[in-house]
Amino acid sequence: MNNGAKSAEFPIGVFDSGLGGLTVVKEIIHHLPNERIVYFGDTARVPYGTKSAETIIRYSREIVRVLLEYKVKMVVVACNTASSLALDVIKKEFDLPILGVIEPGARKAVAVTRSRRVGVIATSSTVKSGRYAAKIVELDKKIAVTSTACPLFVPLVEEGWFDHAVTYRVAEEYLGGMKKKKVDTLILGCTHYPLLKGVLHEVMGPKVQLVDSAMEVALQVKDELVRRRLLRTRLEPGRHQFIVSDEPRQFEHLASRFLGGGIKNVRRYIYV
Ligand code: DGL
Repeated sequence: MNNGAKSAEFPIGVFDSGLGGLTVVKEIIHHLPNERIVYFGDTARVPYGTKSAETIIRYSREIVRVLLEYKVKMVVVACNTASSLALDVIKKEFDLPILGVIEPGARKAVAVTRSRRVGVIATSSTVKSGRYAAKIVELDKKIAVTSTACPLFVPLVEEGWFDHAVTYRVAEEYLGGMKKKKVDTLILGCTHYPLLKGVLHEVMGPKVQLVDSAMEVALQVKDELVRRRLLRTRLEPGRHQFIVSDEPRQFEHLASRFLGGGIKNVRRYIYV
């Protein structure tokens, strides 16, 4: 086996602040069923969505180091907040391909908008960073971007209230301004939001396209592996490993909501 073939066998590292990044894992498994994945959920330090750039950069750096111990061939920053605040820094510090979710989501939105009015919903830190808006405008400066932080969506999803009256009420409240701006495309800029597609469709109306950044990043992972000749060639379903930084039971319990299937034998990583 030459070196290229060997590293193609290595897993893809994916990390998130907690379990939301499993929406990205689900899409990667769907598009690349033979790939192996090592997932790290920083459940001891979640949420990232309210923390500073300095803290998120430190956390992200530590997690990439852990993933490197598993010989990953690529790192996917599934967390929108970490992608907004830490991606540029860790890309410079580590010598392997690192992809985030902002650019793929922004590209898709630019490709599908007709009215050139795009909305972004995300955590407070992602919105404050302005990264989605900056990327969209870099791609097409005629696009007007409206961004809204929706911090209550994360706990509602973790509570399993995908179709609950309270979730509709909260969505109406958050998205009122977005509707007034008549956006025709809405980026779901947080790992948890793809699980609220039903509510968001209903509240925004059928003419607004929802851009799922989890799906878009999975497609970019595929392109990138092909381009670098790192696609796993064995025709057997990849085995995955899940690591969390807090007690694994709660993660195992909620994971099926995000992945659509159960997870067992989640490992615990203890920071020293
Ligand atoms: N994973 C985070 C994101 O996509 C949401 C949860 C958190 O705040 O940590 O921004």
